[in-house]
Amino acid sequence: MAKKADFNMDKQRSSLGQLALERQFVVADSIFELETERVFGNQWIYGCHQSEIDESSGCFRLNACGTQLILLRSESGDVKAFHNFCRHRGSELVTEQNCGSLGQRIQCPYHAWTYDRQGALVSAPNMTGQAGFDKAEYGLKQVECASWHGLIFVRLVDESHRDLPQLSLSQFMAPLEEHAVDWSFGDLKVTNSIDYEVSANWKLIFQNYSECYHCPTVHPALNRLTPFKGASNDVDDGPILGGPMRLSEESETMSSDGKSVGSIFPNLDEQQKRAVAYYTVFPSFFLSAHPDYVLIHRLERVSVSSTKVSCQFLFHPDSIAQADFDPSAAVEFWDLTNRQDWEVCELAQRGITDVKYEPGPYSNLESVVAAFDRHYRNQLGH
Ligand code: FES
Ligand SMILES: [Fe+2]
Repeated sequence: MAKKADFNMDKQRSSLGQLALERQFVVADSIFELETERVFGNQWIYGCHQSEIDESSGCFRLNACGTQLILLRSESGDVKAFHNFCRHRGSELVTEQNCGSLGQRIQCPYHAWTYDRQGALVSAPNMTGQAGFDKAEYGLKQVECASWHGLIFVRLVDESHRDLPQLSLSQFMAPLEEHAVDWSFGDLKVTNSIDYEVSANWKLIFQNYSECYHCPTVHPALNRLTPFKGASNDVDDGPILGGPMRLSEESETMSSDGKSVGSIFPNLDEQQKRAVAYYTVFPSFFLSAHPDYVLIHRLERVSVSSTKVSCQFLFHPDSIAQADFDPSAAVEFWDLTNRQDWEVCELAQRGITDVKYEPGPYSNLESVVAAFDRHYRNQLGH
């Protein structure tokens, strides 16, 4: 049962004069390196929706913020995640996004070592009888992988973190189990996907998504559908943040004309039908759950000043089955909104790069940004 949305702005946690992050967090390669271990090396990281795993190959190639992985679905439907390098001399194994015509075996393109879908090395030409060589020791390197309502996450925990207490994925996702499970993500299918390359640090993109203070200036069309003062937060601390934003009276959803593009999700209550639920999952996943479709943003860190963003639109099969199904009004609306956001993120990146930059104070409309910064600094230990 979803907790009811609370639109009372006064109840939002104040950012209490907190300042924005200092310049080094946005421009320093040393911070980028530190994040690799402390932020991305020990977290559940969003991989993909189950419907993105290629039907025929049962495979999805994932860049988990700098680490190349392959997600492989077995015949029983389980998904396992492996590093995408050969155990011989390290060649990348799977090179195409949909894994091309991957069959039951994964053969390295270099010297033809071959692995099965469980990651075991099953053949290594001319290695038989090699002193001390045991195939069993050279299976693909596996990483932790789990699914929450059809959303697949991986965790790249390294040896130095293995003895720390770790939350299971369902424990980690508990706030969304309370607030966003009514969209039944496991039933949905991705119908459209758009990729972007943004010349900005990943945190600027995360922070930008976390506030609508900029909406009246940057997104006039969005602000008509969901006036910025209708935003509220029901999760305001920790790795998951966000809450619902009320639709204006004339609007049914976020689309070019404000009209629905799919059928309303069957389990939503009256309040959920009149709002968009926006949540971020630290460090790389945004969920925008509309009354009739779900939008996902997945971030991939590329460098300290560059980030790939992949955007997926998910619909209920009942919507997709309709003869006149056409998601383009939603896709066009968000493509425009995304590009407006990337532009201001890039402006911020360029401004913060100036050595004279000094962080300014957050407003109360930026309390979620302030909460993101606190969690980030806590993870980074900085
Ligand atoms: S690098 Fe893969 S078989 Fe040699
Ligand atoms: Fe925006």
